[in-house]
Amino acid sequence: IGQEIHYHETVDSTQKIAHRLGFENVPEGTVVVADEQVGGRGRMNRPWHSAKGTGVWMSIILRPSIPLPKAPQLTLLTAVAVVQAIGDCTELEPHIKWPNDILINGKKVTGILTELQAEADQIHSVIIGIGINVNQQKSDYPPELQSIATSLAIEKGEFVNRAELIQAVFTRLEKLYALYLEKGFLPIKLLWESYAISIGKKITARTLSGNLTGKALGITDDGVLMLEDDQGTIHQIYSADIEIG
Ligand code: BTN
Repeated sequence: IGQEIHYHETVDSTQKIAHRLGFENVPEGTVVVADEQVGGRGRMNRPWHSAKGTGVWMSIILRPSIPLPKAPQLTLLTAVAVVQAIGDCTELEPHIKWPNDILINGKKVTGILTELQAEADQIHSVIIGIGINVNQQKSDYPPELQSIATSLAIEKGEFVNRAELIQAVFTRLEKLYALYLEKGFLPIKLLWESYAISIGKKITARTLSGNLTGKALGITDDGVLMLEDDQGTIHQIYSADIEIG
């Protein structure tokens, strides 16, 4: 991973560039990284603040031969790799909030967005977008974000080297990806659950079809969240925003 790196100063979104590259003959593990994104996007097409030089904005192209429904496993795997990489570079201990938010002290420091390119039910490539807030100061965030977003520098109290962090993500991701291809999802799932904050806790899941409250039991092999409501019924949550407590 990161053997071939396409670096850009300013882009619309690294995700878009990786999509274009994905269909070309670039090697697996090719990375698109930018200093600034002017059209950075998050889950549910939300804007993703990606100011110049403040964070790690990158997209990684993988080509695993796995069935389509298993693709979310790669998002969970990436979250584990980023948690470990942040730990390597800062000694901070981030946690994961299902499905793929990485939090420090309850505030979001990283988002992951996985998109698929498929041909006839076969995965052609997986584009994993990673956005890590690294050196923003609190005042860089608009007031409505200050209570929900943070950066490594805010949490650590000093600047963090972005190049080192990118390298640590490559190293961790490469190891976990090799483990995944060799041993399957189980070891990754155990790691993911050890970093997750929501498991065993009372949560509210805001889904398109309404809110559900109950205890988060864990995730299935496909990365689906299992929630047990007060009546003891177990619900499978495929897509939602989670609130803890
Ligand atoms: C989320 O909503 O939490 C996911 C955020 C993903 C942001 C990253 S930054 C690099 C890549 N390019 C984008 O436009 N988005 C992803």
